[in-house]
Amino acid sequence: MAAIEVADLTKTYGSLTAVDRVSFEVADGEVFALLGPNGAGKSTTIEILEGHRRATSGTARVLGIDPADGGRELRDRIGIVLQSSGIESELNVREAVDLYRASYRNPRGVDEVIDMVGLGPKQHDRVKTLSGGQQRRIDLALGLVGNPEVLFLDEPTTGFDPAARRGSWELLSGLRGLGTTIVLTTHYMDEAEQLADRVGVIVNGTIVAMGTPAELSAGTNVTGIAFRLPDADAIAALPRVGDGAHISGRLVEIRTTTPTADLHHLTSWAIERGVELADLSVHRPSLEDIYLSLTDPSTATRAVWT
Ligand SMILES: Nc1ncnc2c1ncn2[C@@H]1O[C@H](COP(=O)(O)OP(=O)(O)OP(=O)(O)O)[C@@H](O)[C@H]1O
Ligand SMILES: [Mg+2]
Repeated sequence: MAAIEVADLTKTYGSLTAVDRVSFEVADGEVFALLGPNGAGKSTTIEILEGHRRATSGTARVLGIDPADGGRELRDRIGIVLQSSGIESELNVREAVDLYRASYRNPRGVDEVIDMVGLGPKQHDRVKTLSGGQQRRIDLALGLVGNPEVLFLDEPTTGFDPAARRGSWELLSGLRGLGTTIVLTTHYMDEAEQLADRVGVIVNGTIVAMGTPAELSAGTNVTGIAFRLPDADAIAALPRVGDGAHISGRLVEIRTTTPTADLHHLTSWAIERGVELADLSVHRPSLEDIYLSLTDPSTATRAVWT
């Protein structure tokens, strides 16, 4: 049995359809990432699975239980890290973890959890005195303390410094190794690539692509082209190819469905002007390339996904 089964899940708010007939399954022990732009319906989907919101129609099962009336039986077996949480900020870190711990039947130890999220040195500090990233680690601790079979994480590493992000990746990989099923949302494609066995891309409430990162890459006809230009003049004169140039500093990145013609165009332009396309690379699309081609309404190229 899949740990999570979602079929035709729909959620409307008045005239807005926030989640539109979404279907997916997450296998036992799998890590599944929901990706999508702001307002796509990720939190709504995940909060229905957590039992925090009610679906308008469709079905959801978590560990075989309908989360809308899962009650204690389900709450005991899942861990939740909401996108924004409201911990009592007068408590210190230990007290907060201990308070949440008390509501579970088979919890982890307080020290173990504090150690897992790297808050040992801050355990006696009040929550309100911690930095944003440190507070987010408490959220993570509270999601873990119940020793859940299924862990839901809504943008768990937003606000984390790079070392903390890597630390949480290790933590989540470790949990995966213990057989925990994990559903997360993230805006960081490197995070999805690192952690997720499979990803689902959701746009305007609809799943537009789903699969392993490798399957998504194989299922698109988008090719990435990247190079560096010597100066702003060259950047200004660059011909438009593919979905247009995405420029950061002197680095130019282009996604295209017609790489042969576009490369010809670009290299002819460069030779004519005597410009070197430094570090020129033509590559299979990264998850970020695929994500952008699926979600950016302004791009001319669209990934093909059947
Ligand atoms: N309680 C609510 N009442 C009305 N509309 C809502 C409510 N909650 C969410 N929405 C709307 O539903 C849509 C989906 O919101 P949701 O929070 O699921 O997006 P998201 O994919 O999690 O976005 P983000 O990446 O910004 O967190 C948005 O258009 C949002 O404005
Ligand atoms: Mg959200």
